[in-house]
Amino acid sequence: MADNKVFRASTTAPVNIAVVKYWGKRDAKLNLPTNSSISVTLSQDDLRTLTTASCSASYSGDSLTLNGQSTDVSGARTQACFRELRERRAAIEKNDPSLPKISTLPLKVVSENNFPTAAGLASSAAGFAALVRAIANLYELPDSPEDLSRIARQGSGSACRSLFGGYAAWRMGDKDDGSDSQAQLIAPASHWPNMRALILVVNAAKKDVPSTSGMQQTVATSGLFQQRIAHVVPANMKLMEEAIHNKDFATFAEVTMRESNSFHSCAADTYPPIFYMNDASRAAIRAVEALNAAAGKTIAAYTYDAGPNCVIYFLEEDQETVIGAFYKFLSGVSGWKDSAAKAQSAVDLPENIV
Ligand code: DP6
Repeated sequence: MADNKVFRASTTAPVNIAVVKYWGKRDAKLNLPTNSSISVTLSQDDLRTLTTASCSASYSGDSLTLNGQSTDVSGARTQACFRELRERRAAIEKNDPSLPKISTLPLKVVSENNFPTAAGLASSAAGFAALVRAIANLYELPDSPEDLSRIARQGSGSACRSLFGGYAAWRMGDKDDGSDSQAQLIAPASHWPNMRALILVVNAAKKDVPSTSGMQQTVATSGLFQQRIAHVVPANMKLMEEAIHNKDFATFAEVTMRESNSFHSCAADTYPPIFYMNDASRAAIRAVEALNAAAGKTIAAYTYDAGPNCVIYFLEEDQETVIGAFYKFLSGVSGWKDSAAKAQSAVDLPENIV
């Protein structure tokens, strides 16, 4: 490769918010989970990562820029993604010598989130999904979204669910090499298109305990967690898949809220305890309960990841009631005063190869 030609591809990836939570690794190196999980993909209009991957002999080495800041590429997770993608490209180049040999060139990845990074809004999910897809596009890999999800999983577990759109399940698998631990589409967004999510941002600061270390402390110290992975999650996986299949919002909502509660209880049962929710988060839970009680049926479901920010799922037909109630709530409760409320729709991934 004598010239300094730059090869380039861009993509976007959406955020997903789990309704059956991933929390716990059985293999930290391969990023294999202790349980399966399910998520809903959010609309890319407000929450997404835009990533451009390029490679050129003129670059001095691999580099990664996130929101304008140069980020370390030497970490094991980024390296695992780069290595796997390069190996796949090298295999194609070997089979077809007419292809440009770009698998050995330095990579430059430039990524931009349009939402707070590491504030419990699943930024690593969109980030690694976009990184893997952008490089796969750059290398023109024929791999399926399931194949790419196994690579993205090694960057960040939840990222493996951000390659499909709609409703996605990450099957934990049982092989030691992780070759069966990947995500798959349960249903496209068009299956249940009136699903909506409201994001309440109480705190856009970085979270206190990162998910990776938090979940490892939980696995090592929580007794409650053993109960969760053996009984609670398998039952909830089944209920949630049926609820999505049947578009049964009452069950979807109950399992979503119970899952959030179960995960945060395991965090609190970690020793020393981990608290991701704060007083404002708990007030929002009470507000959802009051809203459902007033409606006489379940029209809203809260869920929290590794931070105090709240995601509320509801159906489009209840949008006015839910958003109206939360605008009132936000103005009346301290802690949420500076927050932003956004209605999102679950959408399919567009064809996004630029
Ligand atoms: C609470 O995917 O961020 O959001 O695999 O260590 O990168 P790593 O963890 P990460 O954990 C997400 C945890 C969660 C629940 C979920 O998204 O399922």
